Amino acid sequence: MKYIASLGLAFSLFVSTQVLAVDYAKQIAPLLNQKCAECHSAKRNKTKGDFAIDRLEDMQKQVKAGEPQKSSLLITVSLPDDDEDVMPPKGKNKMNAAQLALLKQWIEEGANFTAQATPPPAAPTGAPATPGGAPAAQKWTNAAGKEIDATFEGMQGADTVLLKVTATGLVHAVPLSSLSAASQELAKKGGM
Ligand code: HEC
Repeated sequence: MKYIASLGLAFSLFVSTQVLAVDYAKQIAPLLNQKCAECHSAKRNKTKGDFAIDRLEDMQKQVKAGEPQKSSLLITVSLPDDDEDVMPPKGKNKMNAAQLALLKQWIEEGANFTAQATPPPAAPTGAPATPGGAPAAQKWTNAAGKEIDATFEGMQGADTVLLKVTATGLVHAVPLSSLSAASQELAKKGGM
């Protein structure tokens, strides 16, 4: 299962932190439509391997809620391009690391096919005013030295920084203590 462990290495920076839930209808269905529908859509009468992304029972067979490493959907799309089971075949139009991370997160969160029931977290408090418009994405570094591109979204209390990861558009609540000293300083100064 090495390929699962290597999924979006950069994202492991934030794996243990609170993340806004992935929305199937808004984030996963469009992705599958774009990558898989030409061969796997009941609506389009294309069901290769008798699998359709728009047949709930087919999808449910391919994902195991909370267990991405046992979900054949994620496993097949994560295979190397030259593996005969990789999807899409031969790795053409394959999902990129950010998309794989999103799919993985959705499965980890329970592979919900319905609209999100959980309300979004309260707006960050204490976010400093940002003169000159929205802050640009910057490199943030965790205590272990891993870098990731993200935009400062504000603080949650004194010890948690909200960072929007550029690659996924997801906002993560990251404990200040898990960041490098320089990134902690950056957060305290409001990401400037
Ligand atoms: C260009 C056509 C094509 C595209 C695009 C494609 N597939 Fe497939 N897929 C196939 C074919 C052909 C098979 C049957 C392969 C076989 O049985 O050996 C298959 C089989 C499968 C199966 C196996 C069903 C089963 O249980 O045996 C799954 C799951 C699957 N595809 C998922 C996906 C996903 C997810 C995507 C998008 C990321 C995708 N495929 C994109 C052609 C495609």
